[in-house]
Amino acid sequence: MKRKVSMFLISAALILSLPVLAADPVAGKARYAVCAGCHGVAGMGNTALGYPQLAGRDAGYVVEQLRAFKAGRRENATMKAMVAGLTETDMENVAAYIATLR
Ligand code: HEC
Repeated sequence: MKRKVSMFLISAALILSLPVLAADPVAGKARYAVCAGCHGVAGMGNTALGYPQLAGRDAGYVVEQLRAFKAGRRENATMKAMVAGLTETDMENVAAYIATLR
């Protein structure tokens, strides 16, 4: 019985972590092409123009910001327009790619 419960917990944990594991940084790189215009190819941003550095941010933080821009929880007209055409999967993938920028 105890064993069944732990097997259940392990499977549940695996299923819950799937969306994160499924994020595809290679697909995200293609999405990042448009972002690079402001945030830079290496994600260094442009302080003078007010484009924040993305390099060094983890995927969890980035995807949360993208969702917030999309939902209007974080207000910024430019970024809202940028994420308008992105699906949840696109946002996870681009976040996974950004997390590889150091
Ligand atoms: C036209 C310029 C421009 C483009 C293109 C652009 N951004 Fe941004 N981005 C901004 C600006 C300006 C901000 C700051 C918004 C604010 O102050 O809330 C920002 C903020 C962000 C943030 C939050 C950073 C932080 O430190 O909290 C993330 C994440 C982000 N952008 C990701 C992206 C992604 C991914 C793309 C491509 C899909 C993209 N941006 C395309 C201008 C741009």
